[in-house]
Parts: sequence; C-alpha cells; structure tokens
Amino acid sequence: MSTAVEIIGVDKTFDTRSGAVQALTGIDLTVEAGEFVSLIGPSGCGKSTLMRLIADLDEPTAGTVEVFGKGARQARLDQEYGIAFQSAGLLPWRTVAANVALPLELHGVASAARSTRVAELLDMVGLADFADRYPDQLSGGMQQRVAIARALAEQPRLLLMDEPFGALDEMTREKMQSDLVRISAETGAAVVFVTHSIPEAVFLSDRVVVMSPRPGRIQEIVPMRLGADAARAARTEELREERAFFDMVTAVREALHQGAPVGTAPRGLENR
Ligand SMILES: Nc1ncnc2c1ncn2[C@@H]1O[C@H](COP(=O)(O)OP(=O)(O)OP(=O)(O)O)[C@@H](O)[C@H]1O
Ligand SMILES: [Mg+2]
Repeated sequence: MSTAVEIIGVDKTFDTRSGAVQALTGIDLTVEAGEFVSLIGPSGCGKSTLMRLIADLDEPTAGTVEVFGKGARQARLDQEYGIAFQSAGLLPWRTVAANVALPLELHGVASAARSTRVAELLDMVGLADFADRYPDQLSGGMQQRVAIARALAEQPRLLLMDEPFGALDEMTREKMQSDLVRISAETGAAVVFVTHSIPEAVFLSDRVVVMSPRPGRIQEIVPMRLGADAARAARTEELREERAFFDMVTAVREALHQGAPVGTAPRGLENR
C-alpha cells in the first residue's frame, strides 16, 4: 500500500508580537493511501495548523511533510488533494454547477468534459436537481455537499477536511457522515478529517489521532475496531447503536482525558 501523507518530526512555532507560540511539536504521522484518519483534541491543540501544513498553506518550523512521496508544495502543484474546510467557501455569484466546475476551469479542462464531470459529481453528492441554483438558495448541508463535490472535482487521492460539518444540525450531520463514508469508499481517496465530535470521528475513521495541547502533540492513535462488517463501505446507521461503536467512543474519550476523570470534558469537545 502506498503512503498518502508522511509527517516526520514536525514542529511549528508562530512568531507573534507577544512572543513565540509553539503550536505543534514532535509530530510523526503516516496516513496510508485510501485510509480515513481523524484528528481530535481540545481547541487550540494545533489541528488546523497541521492541516495547513499538509495542504502547503503554511510551512513547518522543523521536520518534513510529504504527500504521495513528494513535498507538500509539489503535491499542491500536482493537485493531489482537495480541500473542504469549515465554511463551505462557495462563490455566491456562481451557480452550484459553476462552483463545482471552478477547479476544472482553472486547470483548463475542456467545456464538454467539464460538464460531464460536474454532472457526475453532483449526482454523487445528491444535488443533480440543484445544478442551476445559487449557494444562498441552498441549506447549509447542501452547501457543504457542493464544497465536497468541488473538492473531489479533480479526483484527488487525498481529501483534507477541517470541521466541515461543524455548523450542521445533528440529523444533517449524520446524513453527511454516511455520504462521506460512501464517497470516500467509492473514490478510494485518503481523508484527513478534523472534528470536535468523538462519535463523528469513530463513525468515519480507520484511526483516530488524539492530540493534546500546548504545544500540540499526538497523545495517542486509536485504531477503530468496529467489527468485521464495518469495512468503510459497509458502515451503516445501525453501527451507531452497536456495542463496538460505544466501546470505540469510550476508547477515544479515555485517550483524550489521558487518565483524568472522564466527567471533566476538555474544553471545546463535544460528546455528540
Ligand atoms: N497564524 C498564526 N499566528 C499565530 N498563532 C497561531 C496562528 N495560527 C494558529 N496559531 C496558534 O496555534 C495554536 C493552534 O491553533 P490551531 O488553529 O491549529 O488550533 P485547532 O486545534 O485547530 O483549534 P480549534 O479546535 O479551536 O479549531 C493556537 O495556540 C493558535 O493561537
Ligand atoms: Mg481548527
């Protein structure tokens, strides 16, 4: 199996007016091709910073980040990944179809091929009937799905998602989680996913990376053992009610609390 992301010995320090802020220290993490890995940890522990390093939106102070065996910069130039961060980030003056088409347009894909691909993507995210609408005519969950379709437009082998479902109601959020499981299985893309929700991390992931703050470190990596039927393609709503699911939720909670009593939730974490 090839490797999607390889992070070795990464530190990140920000120089600010009030001194240096050490956001990450000693980060080692490998994400295999096709693997789904979630990052979870208290607010300020460096999850977004780590995502930005993988996405080449910022550079590590020390250590290396490789994406499919090349530097993050080269991987970005080669369009190896799609990004969907918290706010959907759609262009309000473009229709749904035109938003999804944008990366294809920017990279010179011919008009006919573009239309075919956009139709395919909108179908995949269940928005085929909304191609000609504008973002402000859609619900938050639908906008989020447009953003995911756009991130998938160029068939990236890696999808980076930073709290993409944070603003959604619980029902929509569970639906989006199921959709994402299906889409990532269909496309075979590796996913690095940031969330504050333990059950969301458990439902989606092959492994959950638990981070601790100040400076951000990897506390523990918890592999999700969800039973023989829980291959990613087979993750269904029933899983949320199974014993193995609750056991994994507990395992992640305990890793987050690192021995502290489980009654005291770290700041910024949800148990839903
Ligand atoms: N551009 C920046 N300049 C200075 N400090 C920064 C910058 N970006 C992040 N930080 C600091 O780095 C630390 C980690 O921030 P980061 O945004 O990565 O946390 P996070 O885990 O994503 O938090 P949240 O769960 O609230 O989104 C914080 O202390 C933050 O203040
Ligand atoms: Mg963040």
